[in-house]
This record gives sequence, structure tokens and C-alpha cells, in this order.
Amino acid sequence: MFLPAVLSELLSRLFIHIFAAMATAGKVIKCKAAVAWEPNKPLVIEEIEVAPPQANEVRIKIVATAVCHSDLYHLLESMHKDGFPTVLGHEAAGIVESVGPGVTEFQPGDKVLPLFISQCRECRFCKSPKTNQCEKGWATRPNVMAPLESRLTCKGKKVLQFTGTSTFSEYTVVNQMAVAKIDPAAPLEKVCLLGCGISTGYGAAVNTAKVEPGSTCAVFGLGAVGLAAVMGCKSAGAKRIIAVDINPEKFVKAKVLGATDCVNPKDHDKPISQVLAEMTNGGVDFSLECAGNVGVMRSALESCVKGWGVSVIVGWTDLHDISARPLQLIAGRTWKGSVFGGFKGRDGVPQMVKAYMDKKVKLDEFITHNMTLDQVNDAIELMKHGKCIRTVLKVSSQ
Ligand SMILES: NC(=O)c1ccc[n+]([C@@H]2O[C@H](COP(=O)([O-])OP(=O)(O)OC[C@H]3O[C@@H](n4cnc5c(N)ncnc54)[C@H](O)[C@@H]3O)[C@@H](O)[C@H]2O)c1
Ligand SMILES: *[C@@H]1O[C@H](CO)[C@@H](O)[C@H](O)[C@H]1NC(C)=O
Ligand SMILES: [Zn+2]
Ligand SMILES: [Zn+2]
Repeated sequence: MFLPAVLSELLSRLFIHIFAAMATAGKVIKCKAAVAWEPNKPLVIEEIEVAPPQANEVRIKIVATAVCHSDLYHLLESMHKDGFPTVLGHEAAGIVESVGPGVTEFQPGDKVLPLFISQCRECRFCKSPKTNQCEKGWATRPNVMAPLESRLTCKGKKVLQFTGTSTFSEYTVVNQMAVAKIDPAAPLEKVCLLGCGISTGYGAAVNTAKVEPGSTCAVFGLGAVGLAAVMGCKSAGAKRIIAVDINPEKFVKAKVLGATDCVNPKDHDKPISQVLAEMTNGGVDFSLECAGNVGVMRSALESCVKGWGVSVIVGWTDLHDISARPLQLIAGRTWKGSVFGGFKGRDGVPQMVKAYMDKKVKLDEFITHNMTLDQVNDAIELMKHGKCIRTVLKVSSQ
């Protein structure tokens, strides 16, 4: 009795989406979105127009989106004037509403995650197992903005699609090379976190640092990205994981996710790298910087042991140069960086969703607040003041 009931439920939902799509496919959709008109100003909930998907594009009804620090970076830190007006948001999950010509992999009703890093499967980078840097994706969506390609308008003005996604909106349009189809049983209000922060931190430890069993690790910055890095170190078999943050409120969650030691640099007069060196007989095997601060990047490098220490930059900033003494690297340390945890999005995201469904990856622990899209400015304030890990905004009902 149970299975047929589930099946008929799934089928009826599928038909609802197909009928809904028949009503809207090919037409402009007017819907609600949070528009960032100017740097460093609150977002404004506006009615926007979302154009139908063009060739190779997918229009997605966003069900849930979380706020990541990279949204704050664009709005409050980098503040590039030519990056506005825009709709921020890139950590989200939704349902395909309609598809443009040439799209065969997706259908209305599919559950998907939009990706801020594309996977065209054809370029030399996609064909290499060494990287997730897709050439086509970065070429067609240069850097974070794609001014000519935006499908969003508001009050007669083109609105940029931040990272090609723009998920602080009830609907958005994304190129099919930046969409991952996921298990239809996955809860969208949870797996949205895999669209950025959790995959980024977890993958940085597992894919980029390649943390080894029995090793000692340090993670700097314990937002969702850093906490996911802690979880990645643990799942890779690290025996000691030192969690570092200047906000001691973050230590509770760090321990839940696998940290063995927690250190607040503010509790010490010595540089943090020296504190860690003394705790670990010369430094950690792997360090991950998840704060987005060039000073912390240097500290993370200097905290690794000479000979084989590996330090990975995950935090996002393009405002300052990094610096270090050459001898740090000459002595055998490796300094690396990682975007989206090294995952190729269309392959990696469905695997991470499966890992969550199989209880191998945690997500619920990262969600400290549930709100609606209308409360997006409250969610931004919480993150700005270090009062949340992830706030999930409900955008539309399923
Ligand atoms: N590389 C990527 O692909 C990628 C993807 C997503 C996010 N990011 C970046 O990762 C970083 C973390 O994102 P998040 O969403 O977890 O942010 P967050 O704001 O929730 O967390 C950042 C944490 O760093 C801590 N911190 C700040 N200064 C510190 C210092 N001097 N020493 C130690 N800790 C310090 C803060 O207290 C906070 O807990 C951001 O820079 C974000 O832009 C990068
Ligand atoms: C957020 O909502 C989810 C259901 O989507 C629930 O499981 C979780 O407990 C809620 N978390 C908080 C902190 O309210
Ligand atoms: Zn590619
Ligand atoms: Zn992000």
C-alpha cells in the first residue's frame, strides 16, 4: 500500500508541474525578487520580469535559497559599481519550470540545483580530471557577471545575474551547463546548501587538500564553509582537527562536526601559527583558510609543517595581494586554492545529495535559521554579525 501511495503522490506532483509549465512556458514570468540596486544598501523586494529560457537554457522555480558570505562580499566588500543592479543568491534548489531549445537533459518538474560554476563537459578543463574550471562557463559568464545575457529585468532596467544564477528570486534562468539534476526525493530546503558552502568546504578538504587518514588538520574560519571543511577532514580520517575562529560562539558546532581542539587567536599573545606549531610538534599536515582574509591565508600557510604541509585558500577575496616569505614554500609547503571544493558541479552535486540522503554528509546541523525571501535583509544582517551559520530562505512552495 505504501509504495503505490508514494508513487501516485509523485505522479500527481509531476503533472502539477507539467500543467503549470504549460501555462507559463514561452511567456515572460512576473515574480518577486530581492534586487540589489546599489552597493552597501538593503536589498529591495521588487516585481521583476523573467524572460523565457533561450537556447540551452533552463528556467527554474526557486524553492529555497541560503545566504553565503560571497553574496555579502559582492554587496558589502568588493562593491564594484558595474556589478549593480543585480539579484544576488547562488546557493539554492528548485524545480524546472520550462526549458529552451536544445535542452534534452532537463524537463519541467525536475528537481535541480543551479551552479555558480558550469560544467560544459566539452572543454579541455572539463575533460581533465585535474580541475573543475570550465572554460566555456567562464567565457560565457565572465567572472561573476553576465550583463548581456541576463534574463531578468526590473522597472525597465536589465538586472545582472550574480554568478549567472540569481537565486534571491522566485524564478531564474540558467544555462544548462550550470544546472545539476538531483534525486527527486531530496528535501530542497536542505540540499540547497550543497549549491555552494557545504560542497565548497567539504570538497576543499577531500578533493583539494586530499586530507589523509591519521593526519592533523587546522581550519581557519568556522562559517558554513569552514565547518564543512571540518566535516570533510573528519570523513577523510584526520585524527586531530583544530578549529580556529575569532568568534568563540562557533566552537559548539565545530565540535559537533568533528573538531578535536578549538582555538581563538584572540586568547593568545603569540601569532596563531606559533600556537598551532607548539600544539602539533611543528605544524599541521593540512590547513584550510575559510575566512576570506589575506592575513589569515598567510597564517594558515605558516601553520603547516615544513616538508609536506599543504595549505588551501578557500575564502573569497580579490581586494588585496597575498604575501609570504619564499622560505615557507622552499621548505616544502604547498599553497593551493580551491573553488567549489574542486567539484565539477553537474557530476559532484548529485553525488553530494546522495551522500546526504545516505547520511554520510550532514546538512541539518548547518541550518541555524529558517526565514522567507522577504526577510533576506535580516538574514544578511545575521551573517554580517556572525550570528548564524546558514539561513535558509523559503522562496516558493513546491
Ligand atoms: N572558494 C569558493 O568556492 C568559495 C565558495 C563559497 C564561499 N567562499 C568564501 O568562503 C568564506 C567563508 O564563507 P562562509 O559563508 O562560511 O562565511 P561566514 O561569514 O559564515 O564565516 C566566516 C568565518 O570566518 C571567521 N573569521 C573572520 N576573521 C577571522 C580570523 N581573523 N581568524 C579566524 N576566523 C575568522 C568569522 O568569525 C566567521 O565565523 C568567504 O570568504 C566566502 O566568500 C568561497
Ligand atoms: C528549519 O526547517 C527545517 C525544515 O525545512 C527543520 O528541519 C529545521 O529544524 C528548521 N531549523 C530551525 C533552526 O528552525
Ligand atoms: Zn567546460
Ligand atoms: Zn557561496
